[in-house]
Amino acid sequence: MVVLAVPAYHLTDTIDAVADDLGDAVLVSPAVGMKRDEDGMHYNPPGVGSVTQLAAANAPEGVPVVGAFHNLAAGRLAVLDADLDWDVPVVADDGAAKATVTDLVADLDGLRPLDAGGLENAAEVESLTPLLINVAANNDGLHDLGVKFW
Ligand SMILES: NC(=O)c1ccc[n+]([C@@H]2O[C@H](COP(=O)([O-])OP(=O)(O)OC[C@H]3O[C@@H](n4cnc5c(N)ncnc54)[C@H](OP(=O)(O)O)[C@@H]3O)[C@@H](O)[C@H]2O)c1
Repeated sequence: MVVLAVPAYHLTDTIDAVADDLGDAVLVSPAVGMKRDEDGMHYNPPGVGSVTQLAAANAPEGVPVVGAFHNLAAGRLAVLDADLDWDVPVVADDGAAKATVTDLVADLDGLRPLDAGGLENAAEVESLTPLLINVAANNDGLHDLGVKFW
């Protein structure tokens, strides 16, 4: 598994840089395209619809791409004993690759993987991230937010 944990605008260059070494890896994209203005953060997807789809469009032939971890706040993840209780929507077109990433998420304490559909649905998942940042910024006592569905 190779996780593309780089800013969205460096994603394709990063894929190009590692392309020859990917072998039978699964590429995982947590990257979200955002822009900031005086109102806060806004979703700013690339022309193909989402950063996850951009990764898929630039992945070497036969290397599956899975979108996951878009909505996890790094600040809270870094607290290793934090009680996360977060959901992780996972999107992919390749069923085996989706299962691999889903199993990884399920193995992490406090994270529940949820099937959010195929790569066409990645924009809906990615666009939650600027919402989380805006809610955290505008409400006292809320920071490093994630999502939980029930
Ligand atoms: N931070 C969060 O809470 C969070 C949450 C959900 C999703 N994400 C997504 O996860 C991705 C990484 O987020 P982040 O907060 O870790 O971002 P970041 O701190 O801005 O960047 C992460 C790493 O990207 C590398 N990088 C920078 N420029 C690069 C380039 N030109 N080519 C290759 N690598 C480069 C840097 O590695 P070096 O230090 O080695 O240069 C840097 O440490 C982003 O796409 C973001 O949207 C972040």
